[in-house]
Amino acid sequence: MGDILNLDYGNIKEEEKILHKKFKSITEGLDWNTFPMRLLELSQKFRWSAYEIDFSKDREDWNKNMKPSDRMQTKLISSLFLAGEECVARDIIPLIYAMEEMGLIEEALYLTHFAQEEANHTVGFRRWFESVGETQGIYEFTLKNEPYRKLFYEIIPTNMKKLYSDPSPENVIRAVTSYMFIVEGILAETGYYAYSKSYEQILPVMPGLYKMIKLIARDESRHISFGAYVTALMISMYGESLFEEFNKYFESLVQEIAFPLINEIRKILLSNSWREEDKGPLFNYLILSDEGFKDIMDFAMNMFQRRYSVIHRAVKMKPEHVRRLHLREMNIVEE
Ligand SMILES: [Fe+2]
Ligand SMILES: [Fe+2]
Repeated sequence: MGDILNLDYGNIKEEEKILHKKFKSITEGLDWNTFPMRLLELSQKFRWSAYEIDFSKDREDWNKNMKPSDRMQTKLISSLFLAGEECVARDIIPLIYAMEEMGLIEEALYLTHFAQEEANHTVGFRRWFESVGETQGIYEFTLKNEPYRKLFYEIIPTNMKKLYSDPSPENVIRAVTSYMFIVEGILAETGYYAYSKSYEQILPVMPGLYKMIKLIARDESRHISFGAYVTALMISMYGESLFEEFNKYFESLVQEIAFPLINEIRKILLSNSWREEDKGPLFNYLILSDEGFKDIMDFAMNMFQRRYSVIHRAVKMKPEHVRRLHLREMNIVEE
């Protein structure tokens, strides 16, 4: 596979010991032109701290400028995000292990930064909840939504932690499909779209949360592109049968988990018998009106198609070329 894909950096077992074969940074050096090293550089450039976001106006808006239905809607969706961020922060670790075990050192280095970003997102959402003074009942929201429970309490930890005992290409594909394509790709991006639409156009409240969502969405676009990159790399290295595996698994998770999960959010919010005066504009648009709900579902569908086309293109590529993909080829904006 040539120097570009020199995988001579994994580990070997010797009796009771595990040994690194060698260190890349002191032998051939890091490969700056690989997709993961370019992502790492960009991540450093866009670093931000969740401790520095000001939520004081959010607290005021929460108490004075929002109707009960809009508060519940925001609280429910944000609770799914908070638990989701903790989940992805905890469960990215086995993928770092798998990449390193395969000798993909630049990928492993980038993922350490990725993990830090997920921790930052978790801190940000928890700080927001504490700032508006609404931490009661958020645990229940994550259990009430059955597809959500299944995805975050079962599927993600199972798929990711399987990499410890068997970091095979097939298992990497399943891990990345559920984590980057379903959780970060379809669900999280649809969520950011709903948030942005809400606070930008429908009800301009909660500037802290709005600002944070924009920053998180930029981080997540890198995470998703990394998922697409790893999928393409595995397919190019280990054959097209992995592409079929990806297709089948992705499609089943979209139909059985992702779309039902979004529908369930709507059902839970509609099950509350709101008095007319308690309904706010966010609820009226995104949940009550078919137009708003369709807008969200169309966005989710569109996301699905965009991700799919990236992988489809990569199937015919050689691993050396996949590793050299440029950021813009994965829809990453560098400004
Ligand atoms: Fe995140
Ligand atoms: Fe992420």
